[in-house]
Amino acid sequence: MPKQIDIAKIQSALDDIASRMAGESDRGEVASYIPELSRVPLNQFGIAVAPLNGPPIFAGDADVPFSIQSISKVFALVVALGHVGATLWRRVGREPSGDPFNSIVQLEFERGKPRNPFINPGAIVVSDVILEHESGEFGRHPVLELCRRLADAPDISVDEEVFASEVKTGDRNRALAYFMLAEGNIKGEVKKVTESYFRQCSIAMTCRQLAEATRFLASGGEGPDAEIAGVTPERTRRINALMMTCGCYDASGEVAFRIGLPCKSGVGGGVVAIAPSVGSIVAWSPGLDEKGNSVLALKAIEELAHGLGWSVF
Ligand code: DON
Repeated sequence: MPKQIDIAKIQSALDDIASRMAGESDRGEVASYIPELSRVPLNQFGIAVAPLNGPPIFAGDADVPFSIQSISKVFALVVALGHVGATLWRRVGREPSGDPFNSIVQLEFERGKPRNPFINPGAIVVSDVILEHESGEFGRHPVLELCRRLADAPDISVDEEVFASEVKTGDRNRALAYFMLAEGNIKGEVKKVTESYFRQCSIAMTCRQLAEATRFLASGGEGPDAEIAGVTPERTRRINALMMTCGCYDASGEVAFRIGLPCKSGVGGGVVAIAPSVGSIVAWSPGLDEKGNSVLALKAIEELAHGLGWSVF
């Protein structure tokens, strides 16, 4: 059952947060390891809430598209689970890694089975599973299609310049994929699998669109959004559990402590948080901390969740 919400109160909280974030001087640093991302101006901040029953509420640069990067791993997981269900967990674990998102060390110790689907090797296995079931030919990417349908926005697209930049600088991800190929945990061609992964990371969406596209995770697995995503109540709970424990890489514990909601971040500066039975929250600001999470997006979601008493604890 959706909880009652006070739209005017949320709007005024978002306006207040957006105006304070505009004046923040400590904004972190834009990701530079993907050259195209380093061009994004640091002074932007947007925030949107998509309640379960009602249109999105937003403030700041909520209609500026940004690169969703690792947030795409949530949609990819939904697609892969739709294809293979719980057998996915034979190839990917469900434990927080405590390591950076692109670490190779743990993968060697654990014989090519990534700790979880939200670190890069886990997401690369998920891409491999998707490609086993859908060719991705004719320009259709299943993750892009799902984002478009959930946000009801057919114009959402892949930023081709970011994609080219990722392909060019993606040796570490290819190394992860080759290692897993050697261990028998990648079935397809490394080039195709990693390019499918880079393509989903390069999808550009606005805070408003991304909030609408992730609202199904607040729905308890019921209603029209859950139907589009093809998720059951149980699957929805489990994706939220993974976001809570693994969604912000080696800062996931700290984010759970500060925010108390399942979150997923991306190096484009976006953060999604799920307030069950209420809706989804997306904040974006391109400056990152040393773990790759947006400084201001985390701060804004923390303030909003505390101010409105949204927590799963
Ligand atoms: O593979 C990469 O490195 C990027 N395309 C995605 C990483 C990412 O967003 C990690 N996020 N915090």
